[in-house]
Amino acid sequence: MLTVDEAFRKFKSRLELNDKEQKNASARHTEVRDYLATKFAVERSFLTGSYARHTKTKPLKDIDIFFVLKESEKHYRSKAPSEVVNAFYNALVEKYGASAVRKQARSVNVDFGVVIDAEDNTDYRVVSVDVVPAFAEGDNYEIPDTDTGKWIKTNPEIHARKAVAAHQAYSSEWKGLVRMVKYWNNNARHGEKPVKPSFLIEVMALECLYGGWQGRFDYEIQGFFSTLADRIFDEWPDPAGLGPAISNGMDDARKRRAHDLLKQASREASIAIDHARQGRNGEALKAWRALFGPRFPLS
Ligand SMILES: Nc1ncnc2c1ncn2[C@@H]1O[C@H](COP(=O)(O)OP(=O)(O)OP(=O)(O)O)[C@@H](O)[C@H]1O
Ligand SMILES: [Mg+2]
Repeated sequence: MLTVDEAFRKFKSRLELNDKEQKNASARHTEVRDYLATKFAVERSFLTGSYARHTKTKPLKDIDIFFVLKESEKHYRSKAPSEVVNAFYNALVEKYGASAVRKQARSVNVDFGVVIDAEDNTDYRVVSVDVVPAFAEGDNYEIPDTDTGKWIKTNPEIHARKAVAAHQAYSSEWKGLVRMVKYWNNNARHGEKPVKPSFLIEVMALECLYGGWQGRFDYEIQGFFSTLADRIFDEWPDPAGLGPAISNGMDDARKRRAHDLLKQASREASIAIDHARQGRNGEALKAWRALFGPRFPLS
C-alpha cells in the first residue's frame, strides 16, 4: 500500500506542469498572439503569472498572457481602464464567440471549451487563458483594473525572483506546497474559493513557510493551513511593492469564512496525521484525499 509520504510525492508530481501541457500552453499563446497582432500594435507578449512561476495548480485554468502594447496604442493609457479591456474583449469575441470570452477586472478570459473529467484531468490541455493588456513603464508594467478604475503597476519578474528564493530556501519543496494548497482552494467542495485571489496563498507562503523544510509533507501542510488561518486577517502588500495590497480581494466577512475553512483544513490534516500515527494508513489516505480532492492518490 502507498505510504502517506509516497502519496504526497505522487500528488505533488500530478500538480507539476508537464511537457504536453507546456506545448499546449505555448500553442494557445501563439494562436492568441497571432490573432491579436492583427487587431492591436503589440510590442511583445509572454506567458506569466503563476503559470510561469510553476505555482499554478491543476487543472490549468486562467493562464496569464501579458500583451505589452506599442507606443502607438498609448492613447488607451490616458483613458479609463475599461476602454482597453472592452477593446480586447470585442476583438476576442470576434474570434472565439461571446460564450467563450469573459471580461475580468484586469484581463479578458478566453475559454477553450476543454472538458475536465472527475479526476481533474484535461488530456493535458489548457482550459482558459487570461489576456492582460499592458504597457511597459521602466522595468515595470501598468495594467488596467476596472474594479478601481485605475491603472496598476506590477512586476512579474520580482514576483518570480521571490518565488525562486523561497523555493531554494525550502529545499525545493516550496512551490509544491503552494500548488497543493491552491489545489485545495479551488476544490469545488467549498462552493467558492476560500482565499481570493489565490495569488494571496503564494504571497502568504513567502512568509508563512519559514524555518526550512522539515522533511514531512503532512506536518508542513498542517502547519501551513494553521498559519494561513491565523494570518488571513493581516494586510498582505504586493511583494514587489508596486500594486494594491493582495489582501484587498476579500472583505471582512469573506476573510472570516476563509479563516474558518483554513482552520477546518488544519484540523482535518491533524486527524489525517493521527490516523497514520495509529497505523490506519488507508484512513489517513482517505482523509487527505477528502481534504484536497481527486488528484490526491489513494493508490
Ligand atoms: N495586486 C497586485 N499588484 C501587483 N501585481 C499583481 C497583483 N495581483 C496580481 N499581480 C500579478 O499578476 C499576476 C497574475 O495575477 P493572478 O491573480 O492571475 O495570480 P496568479 O499568481 O497567476 O495566480 P492563479 O494561479 O490564481 O492564476 C500575479 O502572478 C502577479 O505577478
Ligand atoms: Mg493567474
